[in-house]
Amino acid sequence: MKTPSHSLPTTALPEYSLAQLALRNGQDRDEIWVCYQGLVYDVSRSRLWRRGNHYEHWAGQDLTQELQRDAPHTENVFDNFPIIGRLKAAATPNS
Ligand code: HEM
Repeated sequence: MKTPSHSLPTTALPEYSLAQLALRNGQDRDEIWVCYQGLVYDVSRSRLWRRGNHYEHWAGQDLTQELQRDAPHTENVFDNFPIIGRLKAAATPNS
């Protein structure tokens, strides 16, 4: 049986900041990344994310709320794409 990618241990993954994620919006570099629930997925090889655009949504961002709010599909669409990192928590004023 196929192991869902979501069950992989994620603690060993590299962390990326929102700024690093934003550079992978499909416009500035060849890589196209999308963040969902704290995990960064590489969707570069998807024909549905060409140039970083997917049904009026742009890569290079955390699209957790957009998927839950707008998408006609579930998060299972990520099953065929590798998790390449985790989103670095935004700095808080006292950290
Ligand atoms: C108006 C909103 C959206 C529409 C109409 C839409 C539509 C679609 C459609 C028709 C597919 C084809 C496969 C399927 O339906 O299962 C798809 C795949 C996918 N969607 Fe969306 N989607 C939307 C929003 C989003 C958002 C916000 C995300 C990211 C968080 C997302 C991520 C994906 C991914 C990763 C795939 C798989 C692409 C592939 O297999 O090449 N979608 N979407």
